[in-house]
Amino acid sequence: MLKLIRGYVLHTLKNPFFEEEALEGFEDGALLIEKGKILELGDFSQVSKRYPDADVIYYKDAFILPGFVDCHVHYPQVPIIGAMGLRLLEWLDTRTLPEEARLADSDYARTQARVFLGLLARNGTTTALVFGAHFKEAMHVFFDEADKSGLRITSGLVLGDRLLKDELHTDPDKAYAENLELIRRWHNHGRLRYAVTPRFSLSCSDELLAVCGRLLKEQPDLFFTSHINEQIEEIETVLELFEDSSDYLSTYEKHGLVGKHSVFAHNVHVSDSELGRLAKAESSIAHCASSNMFIGSGLFDMKRHLEHQVQFALGSDVGGGTGFSLFKEGLMAYQGQMLQLAKGFPLTATQLLYLATLAGAKALHLDQTVGNFAVGKEADFMIVKAPDKSTLKQTLEHSPSAEASLAALFTLAREDSLLDVFVSGESVFV
Ligand code: GUN
Ligand code: ZN
Repeated sequence: MLKLIRGYVLHTLKNPFFEEEALEGFEDGALLIEKGKILELGDFSQVSKRYPDADVIYYKDAFILPGFVDCHVHYPQVPIIGAMGLRLLEWLDTRTLPEEARLADSDYARTQARVFLGLLARNGTTTALVFGAHFKEAMHVFFDEADKSGLRITSGLVLGDRLLKDELHTDPDKAYAENLELIRRWHNHGRLRYAVTPRFSLSCSDELLAVCGRLLKEQPDLFFTSHINEQIEEIETVLELFEDSSDYLSTYEKHGLVGKHSVFAHNVHVSDSELGRLAKAESSIAHCASSNMFIGSGLFDMKRHLEHQVQFALGSDVGGGTGFSLFKEGLMAYQGQMLQLAKGFPLTATQLLYLATLAGAKALHLDQTVGNFAVGKEADFMIVKAPDKSTLKQTLEHSPSAEASLAALFTLAREDSLLDVFVSGESVFV
């Protein structure tokens, strides 16, 4: 009944951007788990003395970290990861939207759902806000597979009624009816929740965004996600399409879509006014560092987000992003800040761990449940071990501190360093 997981435990207790001593580490540590929840955390010698009958599982030379929280990732886009040479609008037209149209076939959608969920788990991601597909049936099969996977998934039907491809377009009445059907079936079903998901205001008429607002008003516990302020050409088009809007955020605001359950991806080219309004609304930003570089969107202004106290966490943005690993996403976030010299924010490894775990849990309002190893939370964790002969192994052998070990993990650990991944104490590794 009692499981004692032994290894090098690391997690963040609080927000290291604003508070000291946020990182807690136990080099020979133990997580005590009962019925999927954390009962105790500490040095192995002490915890094992108090619970001599607990079942000990020893992960020698391995790290035990909280499961990652990915705040922005697209379920249909695994096949187009690495589509080089294209900026956002051309990348959508030539590679991404044609692939997304294939999910009209529900059998193909189910295969892609399984692949996608398996890859999240293999990369240590136990919780995610997932951009769905444009087809209702593709969302039923996705939620069905997500339910079986054990992962904590918030997702929704993607909406657009212009400027995409005809096959992907909906209309306001259809969107309302299909959302209601999916919400009734899947919202708060097990570990699943529903997010109203217009693709971006470029692809949505005012009437369609109004339907999104109506859904959120009728059911305030729903989530909301979309893209914002990603590329200059995109922003210019949005402002041409919405003549009465002075900036991108106001295209969402006017339909009641900017609140504390809202997560906006990217926000690279953002005004001070928008940052002030996002902070006031308590919305969150998914910072998608590798995607911002890969499709050439620009470098995230972390300093200004911090100054305005706008919450942000990490998003892999597969397939604009270059893979599922939030270790790599953390490294990209770090590099993106270093490149900006004095304008950038020099991140620490503790801050990266926070952004990949507790910050994401906060953005998704799951921080009472997951995000770190506070006693009473669900036991969502990953086991990370450097493969034999790997660069990571060599670097870790010389690590002088917990902070340095964590920095080595963000720099070098990838899929092949994950031994196992657990949600509520049960393995979800496939
Ligand atoms: N904006 C609208 N759709 C997308 C998408 O699929 N990926 C990214 N990165 N931005 C978008
Ligand atoms: Zn995206």
